[in-house]
Amino acid sequence: MKQVQYNGLTFEPYIEKETIAARIKELAGVIKRDCEGTVPLFVCVLNGAFPFAADLFRAVDMDAEITFIRLKSYEGMGSTGVVKEVIGLGENIKDRTVIIVEDIIDTGNTIKKLVADLQKMEPASLKIATLLFKPESLQTDVKPDYVGFSISPKFIIGFGLDLDGIARNLEDIYVLKEDNA
Ligand code: IMP
Ligand code: MG
Repeated sequence: MKQVQYNGLTFEPYIEKETIAARIKELAGVIKRDCEGTVPLFVCVLNGAFPFAADLFRAVDMDAEITFIRLKSYEGMGSTGVVKEVIGLGENIKDRTVIIVEDIIDTGNTIKKLVADLQKMEPASLKIATLLFKPESLQTDVKPDYVGFSISPKFIIGFGLDLDGIARNLEDIYVLKEDNA
């Protein structure tokens, strides 16, 4: 795998697609076991979580539903701290087994607001699945239930994660090179 460049910045290979695929299968197995006897509703947080949600949803070998919500809190390479809801949830989630599907938890501000909003709708259970987690960046008390990879607080792109809208379609995950001069 080669380095890639976006907006004049160099990124190097970080997590390969085979590793991502294998980990998603493992998470799907655990989710299936935990949700036995229910028809879980996956809530995919757009835009970034769509590749993860598509793979996770197909890997969960049981009756399940999926819906989408759109939130935005990031600009460039830093969290703005302000979470804006762009598309709201249409489904009634009362008494449902709900799994929020996120691409990454960084400060935790986005997921915290979403969890608070969804809890008001009285789901039977509300869990968080995130492909990536930066525990050292966390500024809130949220704890994801299903984590693909815990990573150091570095900026990454690919597999849904973007740099100002681009690079989401990279099949592998790349990290910003330390020495970008
Ligand atoms: P939080 O609210 O700080 O937890 O940020 C969550 C959102 O910020 C994610 O859903 C991503 O859209 C974005 N984000 C956080 N870290 C990264 C990164 O390293 N690369 C790209 N986007 C990121
Ligand atoms: Mg996101």
